[in-house]
Amino acid sequence: MSTASNLFAGQRVVVMGGSSGIGEAAATAFAADGAEVVVTGRDRERLDAAVARIGGTSTGRQLDATDPAALAGFFVEAGTVDHLVVAVSGSAGSGPFAQLDLADLATGFDGKFWPQVRVLQAALPHLRKDGSVTLITASSARAAIPGTAGLAAINGALEAMVPPLAVELAPLRINAVSPGVIDTPWWDRVPAQQRAELFDSLAATVPVGRVGRPEDVARAIHLLAANTFVTGVVFDCTGGMNLPTGR
Ligand SMILES: NC(=O)c1ccc[n+]([C@@H]2O[C@H](COP(=O)([O-])OP(=O)(O)OC[C@H]3O[C@@H](n4cnc5c(N)ncnc54)[C@H](OP(=O)(O)O)[C@@H]3O)[C@@H](O)[C@H]2O)c1
Repeated sequence: MSTASNLFAGQRVVVMGGSSGIGEAAATAFAADGAEVVVTGRDRERLDAAVARIGGTSTGRQLDATDPAALAGFFVEAGTVDHLVVAVSGSAGSGPFAQLDLADLATGFDGKFWPQVRVLQAALPHLRKDGSVTLITASSARAAIPGTAGLAAINGALEAMVPPLAVELAPLRINAVSPGVIDTPWWDRVPAQQRAELFDSLAATVPVGRVGRPEDVARAIHLLAANTFVTGVVFDCTGGMNLPTGR
């Protein structure tokens, strides 16, 4: 984001899964607006490199969000958190339903659903009473794309929790951003040529004519954290990819 302000000056923002992609872009946006940003990730080198790119007063903390004891210790050390973003990713759980390996689907829940829930629960005692939480889900929750029922279950479960949590935990605000296809290192698992072809074919069908950039999603996260009149919302940031076509 190009225009820096002091919107988040004096505020602490924790970005879980902030050493890459969407989380790193969000951390960069908050740091540019004066926040003290703490990013987490499992890989030390990746974390250090991200902190150097994010700049400001950002710091990195090596942490596995699947580890409850590590999470509890982290939040005690972190002090009061004004805004929490949970961008931890998993990748397992996709594929045609008839052949879907249920152990793989369980791994998908372990990699994304449970860490996001665990992080939020561990953070609660340390979050500013009227601060904000932004979960990162995925358009697969509602896009009805063949082969994504497992991903729909993982991300849909998270999205379903947003409205009741927004009421239960008020005045803390709880929102989610639901991204479409975003060009991040998450896609490095797909061979470069295949990835380029996939992105090109998607760009031809997505209404805005391109796949997303991490900064697109960062703007949405920033907006939800900044706007104190928004809670209980799942914000689609998909370039129109998930709009109903009437098919
Ligand atoms: N990219 C897309 O097209 C897309 C689309 C829809 C939704 N999303 C969602 O957006 C979120 C961010 O994805 P991304 O594309 O930015 O992925 P990414 O570039 O792979 O970044 C994922 C981040 O999460 C960290 N992480 C993963 N597992 C962790 C764990 N157990 N504990 C702590 N940190 C962990 C990673 O660092 P370490 O690996 O070092 O731990 C990294 O910082 C994810 O929830 C993803 O499902 C992405």
